[in-house]
Amino acid sequence: MTLNTNEYFNVKGGKPLEGKIKLAGAKNAATKMLVASLLTKDECVLDNFPNIGDTEIAVELCRILGSEIKISGSTVTIQTKEIKNTKVEALSRRNRIPILALGPLLTRVGEAEVPVVGGDKIGARPVDLHIDSLKMMGAEIEVVNDTYRARAPQGLKGTEISLKYPSVGATEQIIMSAVMAKGRTILRNSAIEPEIIDLIKLLQKMGAIIELGTNRVISIFGVPELHGAKHKILSDRNEAVSFASLAVATSGRIFVEGASQDHLITFLNNLRRIGGEYEVEENGIWFWRAKKLEGIKVETDTHPGFMTDWQQPFVVLLTQSDGASVVHETVYEDRFGYTKDLNLMGANIRVVKECLGDLPCRFKDSLSAHSAIIYGPTKLKGQELTVPDLRAGIAHLIAALVAEGESTIRGIHEIDRGYENIDERLRSLGAEIKRIS
Ligand code: UD1
Repeated sequence: MTLNTNEYFNVKGGKPLEGKIKLAGAKNAATKMLVASLLTKDECVLDNFPNIGDTEIAVELCRILGSEIKISGSTVTIQTKEIKNTKVEALSRRNRIPILALGPLLTRVGEAEVPVVGGDKIGARPVDLHIDSLKMMGAEIEVVNDTYRARAPQGLKGTEISLKYPSVGATEQIIMSAVMAKGRTILRNSAIEPEIIDLIKLLQKMGAIIELGTNRVISIFGVPELHGAKHKILSDRNEAVSFASLAVATSGRIFVEGASQDHLITFLNNLRRIGGEYEVEENGIWFWRAKKLEGIKVETDTHPGFMTDWQQPFVVLLTQSDGASVVHETVYEDRFGYTKDLNLMGANIRVVKECLGDLPCRFKDSLSAHSAIIYGPTKLKGQELTVPDLRAGIAHLIAALVAEGESTIRGIHEIDRGYENIDERLRSLGAEIKRIS
């Protein structure tokens, strides 16, 4: 897939979408697994690998570092016999994956230089927890000209780390840095997202010793060496939620092949509470609208809570629900920008600074508008839209498919970062969507 920032979608909405759609492998696991493979000289094979913008960036990153990579359909084979380069300079696009290469590079060769990170435009997104944890494990890190320059002349060593917030990226950074560190690492208040558990499963297959304790405690016993492994990447639960929301929002009926109930429990409960329905089968889940939709109060949280990446498709659904709904975003402080576009389409959403929820929230006294009140149901009309970031992009797309009339959606490379062949797959459900270059 080559990046074409001029491409746009033309969407004609307003009809129920029906049929079957197969989930791709999880973006948030695939990218990290490529980075984890840097820890061994041997070959790693990943099945169910999604061909999306973010995995392309991770592939480019690993190639710069010395990996040989073959992609055949949805299988990727990666081998890094030797780290040929410890400095990641110009990547053609940016995301937050390069920061994760710090641990594996320090482990393999004792030095690393990666760019200060980009990623979605959703708030400050600091990496202090990554940097502080690596320093606690013996790394020396400085920021020089927009890059993190890291060294670990004595190698990394196990230690006790207590995260002030269960960050997904920091948890992954610590695990990948600890698997071959000297001694034992005890990580408290870790994130426990399914994609992290899947990364742990890959690392275990590679020879790592990682214990999952109660209360978000992960213990890692450093081993001298890791070897190659073969792993099937778990399905993308964010895709699952997007297609489930699409089924219910368009009053259609969609079978999401590969959707796993285990990873969607909180979403399924909330979907049923507003009037959506589902039936779990062995290889996936059917979704449809059971009755007139009702409003709800939802708070985003770390796993097993309602994921922050689910709120955007869910908010589109809530524009079709009767009464007022409230969404309190506690993971990112600035993730409601896209609601302005939904309002242009006819939605009635107000974003406020107050914490409209009960969860402890780091943004309580900040000036961030991190709660949304959605009044519905509202009729949506087609609009000209520009996607600001990946998850906002899927909200635009679902809204355009619900809306009467025609929409133009620009900036769709953001959607391509996380969704494989989205237009083609949506057409198979009856969607009228054209990709125009
Ligand atoms: C990952 C996911 C993203 C998801 C998010 C939360 C990938 C590629 N992306 O992002 O889709 O929305 O988890 O489930 O897997 N924080 C700090 N300091 C740090 C790191 C994070 O303060 O060093 C804060 C962030 O600003 C944010 C919160 O922690 O407020 C959560 O971030 P984190 O869990 O790290 O998200 P990512 O790993 O970037």
